[in-house]
Amino acid sequence: MTTREALACELTEARDRTLRLVAFDDAELRRQYDPLMSPLVWDLAHIGQQEELWLLRGGNPDRPGLLPPQVDQLYDAFVHSRASRADLPLLPPTDARNYCATVRGKVLDALDALPDGHPDAFTFGLVVSHENQHDETMLQALSLRSGAPLLDRGTSLPPGRPQTAGTSVRVPAGEFVLGVDAVTEPYSLDNERPAHVVDVPAFRIGRVPVTNAEWRQFVDDGGYHRRQWWSDAGWAHRRQAGLTAPLYWNGDGSRTRFGYVEEIPGEEPVQHVTYYEAEAYAAWAGARLPTEVEWEKACAWDPETNSRRRYPWGATEPTAEVANLGGRALRPAPVGAYPQSASAYGAEQMLGDVWEWTSSPLRPWPGFTPMVYERYSQPFFDGTGTGEYRVLRGGSWAVAPNILRPSFRNWDHPIRRQIFSGVRLAWDDVGAPPACGGPLTRRVDGYV
Ligand code: AVJ
Ligand code: FE
Repeated sequence: MTTREALACELTEARDRTLRLVAFDDAELRRQYDPLMSPLVWDLAHIGQQEELWLLRGGNPDRPGLLPPQVDQLYDAFVHSRASRADLPLLPPTDARNYCATVRGKVLDALDALPDGHPDAFTFGLVVSHENQHDETMLQALSLRSGAPLLDRGTSLPPGRPQTAGTSVRVPAGEFVLGVDAVTEPYSLDNERPAHVVDVPAFRIGRVPVTNAEWRQFVDDGGYHRRQWWSDAGWAHRRQAGLTAPLYWNGDGSRTRFGYVEEIPGEEPVQHVTYYEAEAYAAWAGARLPTEVEWEKACAWDPETNSRRRYPWGATEPTAEVANLGGRALRPAPVGAYPQSASAYGAEQMLGDVWEWTSSPLRPWPGFTPMVYERYSQPFFDGTGTGEYRVLRGGSWAVAPNILRPSFRNWDHPIRRQIFSGVRLAWDDVGAPPACGGPLTRRVDGYV
């Protein structure tokens, strides 16, 4: 397949996915499910508007486009907060669909005419990534929606290996290559570049993410009410927001997922926790959160060959046998479901299932250069004044496999939990491995 054919295919796949997520009546698409999210019809037209901007208007908003300027600007995420978007004079759903289709027609023509090896291929990949990222955002919105379910229960997933819960792997001290370059990852985004060597002290990291059953022990042990496990900011937020369990837990052992009430599956990675809850859980478990640098080393580095793997398991593209990605499952897979996904160090399920909170604020790698979409990363860097963010790694079940890499960096405010966020623990390396068998037995001296 040529690069052009591959990009056309990925654009079409992303669009099919988007259209499935807006296959509802007009009233539904205009509804604001929660002030944290846009109405679905905003995401839809924004996907088209950004595609037109990057691929047909050379990234220059002053260059005339298909929409009148006052309509075009409705889809500028920096001008209108999510909470305010339902009250804007948005394009009606039919117009939004037609607009997206018109843009797409022109984009596919432009792609057809693209000479081999043209640098603009990157921008087409950026648009694929952008659309898929908004598809995940729309799933977050649909998850917050109240009322009878709109979506099915999700596709089936492989069974877990529950004995992987609570175990950890060791990553010895040493240098590794953090980040990637255009040569090896042509579609990597600006914040993943450039590749550079960093030295990382030895550490341990969870073999799999923390499960609902483990989190339940934290709840039952009064974890949400014991000040000692929480940071100052975390405790203040916990009190103010009244947090007592992950979002969507109902307090009777059930949870609500896309409108379905079901028993909380113990072996599934915990989902919908804030950074502050993740931090408190880790303290209670005698652990800490990994830094994003540790996370990436555990995911991508191969100490045998002294080089990065393209994926934790090797060079082959993600399939349903190694990772839960693509958004059709509508939930994470149980821990241990993907033994073949193991990284060189033995960490499993690094890609897919849940986004994993790290302790790192979002910062540029040394030598950072913004891409054509200059405001993708830069306005969110630590110290730039748009607020505090923490990095999440690994991608959730809702991420499209073709946009994800071990170097992919996501970020959000530490108080957010409508995102598909979970936790993987880490420990300083102090010799003996932490005891296995769950958080309570793991809470041993020397690991606090
Ligand atoms: C990388 C997921 C934090 O949704 O704010 C979408 C992605 N940027 N449109 C976001 C994004 C512009 C971004 N995250
Ligand atoms: Fe966007």
